[in-house]
Amino acid sequence: MKAVTDHPVHDLIATRWSPYSFADRSVSDEDLRSLFEAARWAASSYNEQPWNYIIAKKEDADEFERLLSCLVDGNQVWAKNVSALALGISSLNFARNNKPNRAAIHDLGLAAGNLVLEATSRGLAVHQMIGILPDKARELYSIPEGYEPMTGIAIGYADDPINLPEELRTRDAARRPRKTPKEFIFRGRWGVPSSLF
Ligand SMILES: Cc1cc2nc3c(=O)[nH]c(=O)nc-3n(C[C@H](O)[C@H](O)[C@H](O)COP(=O)(O)O)c2cc1C
Repeated sequence: MKAVTDHPVHDLIATRWSPYSFADRSVSDEDLRSLFEAARWAASSYNEQPWNYIIAKKEDADEFERLLSCLVDGNQVWAKNVSALALGISSLNFARNNKPNRAAIHDLGLAAGNLVLEATSRGLAVHQMIGILPDKARELYSIPEGYEPMTGIAIGYADDPINLPEELRTRDAARRPRKTPKEFIFRGRWGVPSSLF
């Protein structure tokens, strides 16, 4: 599943992907600590560090079930097999003055980028999910106002997609196309492709 890139990039970037098929193999606490340590060291606007996580390992069956129940059905079908689940929750307002932090969701994403690359470097795979039930998560975990459950994060070892049900296997195989640089990198005026590409 390694990306065939048009220009050279770091191997970790080309290797990272979001599988649907996960092996029945647990992720060590040491690896999990390092993944969230990588998230911790992400850059953030005003160093606000708006990211928060709720984690549940598969072995912690009740908590894993609880977190799984915060995903939409279409994600539960495959995410039930992963070794660990997390919810990414962003603090929407600055701690110092309670004003809205426009970068809150952006910076949760940056932390996710760090986490995912750290995981890739350890031979792990991460599949992020916008398909969660934020209201249910808020209720089940008593998430206070001003904090927004944004994403689910599935962590584990990728398995051969051959073991997936037909429908998921098709989804797995079909969803890695990329826009060309000309479609999103402009010069001088919106929509005019940069001649770099
Ligand atoms: C913030 C975010 C939310 C996503 N939400 C879902 C989701 O709810 N369900 C799903 O199956 N995939 C989800 N994905 C995975 C994307 O579909 C996937 O990253 C994209 O197709 C590109 O594939 P790749 O990650 O293998 O390069 C999400 C990815 C991100 C970054």
